[in-house]
Amino acid sequence: MITEFLVFVVVLVVSLILLQKKPKNFPPGPLGLPIVGHLPLLGQSPHKRLLEWKKKYGPIIGVQFGSFRTVVLTDAKVIREALNMPAFSARPNIKAFSERSGGVRKGIIFTDGHEWLEQRRFTLKNLRDFGFGRNTMEAKIQDEVIELMDRFAATAGKPLQMRNVFNSAVLNALWSIMLGERKKQDDPELAEAVRRLTASIDENNITASLAIFLPWLAEFAPKLSGYEKMIKENEPLVKFVQKNIDEHNKLHTAGEPRDYVDSYVDEVKRTTDPDSSFHEKNGHLTFAVLDLFAAGAETTSTTLTWLFAYLVTYPEIQEKFQKELDDVIGRERLPALSDRSKMRYTEALLNEVMRFCSLVPLSVFHWTSEDVEFHGYTIPKDTMIMPNLYGAHFDEEVWGDPENFRPDRFLDANGNPKKYDTVLVVSLILLQKKPKNFPPGPLGLPIVGHLPLLDKLSTELLSMFVKAVRKLQIFNAGFYLAVGLTEKSRMICAMSRDAQKK
Ligand code: HEM
Repeated sequence: MITEFLVFVVVLVVSLILLQKKPKNFPPGPLGLPIVGHLPLLGQSPHKRLLEWKKKYGPIIGVQFGSFRTVVLTDAKVIREALNMPAFSARPNIKAFSERSGGVRKGIIFTDGHEWLEQRRFTLKNLRDFGFGRNTMEAKIQDEVIELMDRFAATAGKPLQMRNVFNSAVLNALWSIMLGERKKQDDPELAEAVRRLTASIDENNITASLAIFLPWLAEFAPKLSGYEKMIKENEPLVKFVQKNIDEHNKLHTAGEPRDYVDSYVDEVKRTTDPDSSFHEKNGHLTFAVLDLFAAGAETTSTTLTWLFAYLVTYPEIQEKFQKELDDVIGRERLPALSDRSKMRYTEALLNEVMRFCSLVPLSVFHWTSEDVEFHGYTIPKDTMIMPNLYGAHFDEEVWGDPENFRPDRFLDANGNPKKYDTVLVVSLILLQKKPKNFPPGPLGLPIVGHLPLLDKLSTELLSMFVKAVRKLQIFNAGFYLAVGLTEKSRMICAMSRDAQKK
């Protein structure tokens, strides 16, 4: 026990010394702790703490999050500029994420380099071809809205748990583009997909954060760090998507694509180049579909949940919104895409919802694929890049009163849309350029160099360490990794407007 204790102290001291040794000309930031770096300093709301740090250190902050040297960008212009540079467009190779696809990164969200470019380009084109963002999608969404309204009507006057209320409808709309079929919103298989997606995101958010930020701990203490649980939770989800794709393929006639998955299968059949990510040996399809479900369903449904939460909180805003619905659409038909240009208040309201809820406050982490000179700083290759979207959404200089929920800020004095030079949702608008180098896997950080020493630590010592780290609220940072800000607690009572008036 004494030897182990000594080893632990040595590791602490060495990592403390190495931690203070920032790369030359690295952006400024507060002093961190050994091993865990700045994670414990983030408090309950990391995005808010990082915005506070901006006042002292400026919009480009250099920190250490567990094993990852990180640069946080907390200003809309800086974020936009960085994300438009190829050197910033890689992704960290986090073992806890690549493990879902057998240790090799697959799909769209966690890949980079030529694989990401190919998968992303194909996906953007084919989602569009099968209706995404077009009029053909409108009918699919309207089907979901009708069913959703029936569900609301059936519970009218009774409290309804808002968490997950939109998930089936949103997932169904995505499902119909990708797998060509529509299910009933209470279909057990769809419910199972929603349950698994939500569980996997919750799991990734909370218990897995230790495994994400301290990959060496995941290696040595897979159970304690939450790594094992995270991997186990993902397995059935991958199998579930795989099973649905296999069944779908039985009815596919080659060269006659009905949907995204058919097109993908045709593309794989056409591909002979073994270096292409579409070559059959690479097997990206399941993970591309999984990424679209995971990235599209939870985000959209949770944003809708926030919309409802704000409408309940601000009845005067709800009234203005309802008035525009009545004036432009009336009560006899459903809204259509063509109504959009006439619904300025609604547009402003949705913008304000996205700004105010800042659903993915720290975005999805990026990674530098080469050394970059940026605003007078040198950001070395293999640095994690964290765009603080919340920081951009709550910048006092841009918004004046960011803490107020005020859709009118998106309208000028004549009621016309007002544009801000800021980032609202960066999803799917990223650059298409090819980065020069592909990053070679997770960052080798000071502490990783001492893994052989840690190997000797007893389970007891590791468990003490994990408990201490948990107390330091390290979890919060992981919580914001995926879908950060969920609206879990609220219940609403749906009532028809005619009933309200009586
Ligand atoms: C309100 C809804 C949404 C929000 C708030 C949101 C937010 C985000 C954010 C912050 C990112 C990270 C961008 C970056 O890496 O810099 C992202 C990426 C992504 N989103 Fe969304 N998103 C939403 C809806 C959707 C939908 C509906 C889909 C698909 C159908 C989707 C698919 C993706 C994909 C595939 C990526 C990864 C892109 C890449 O790595 O190239 N998202 N999203």
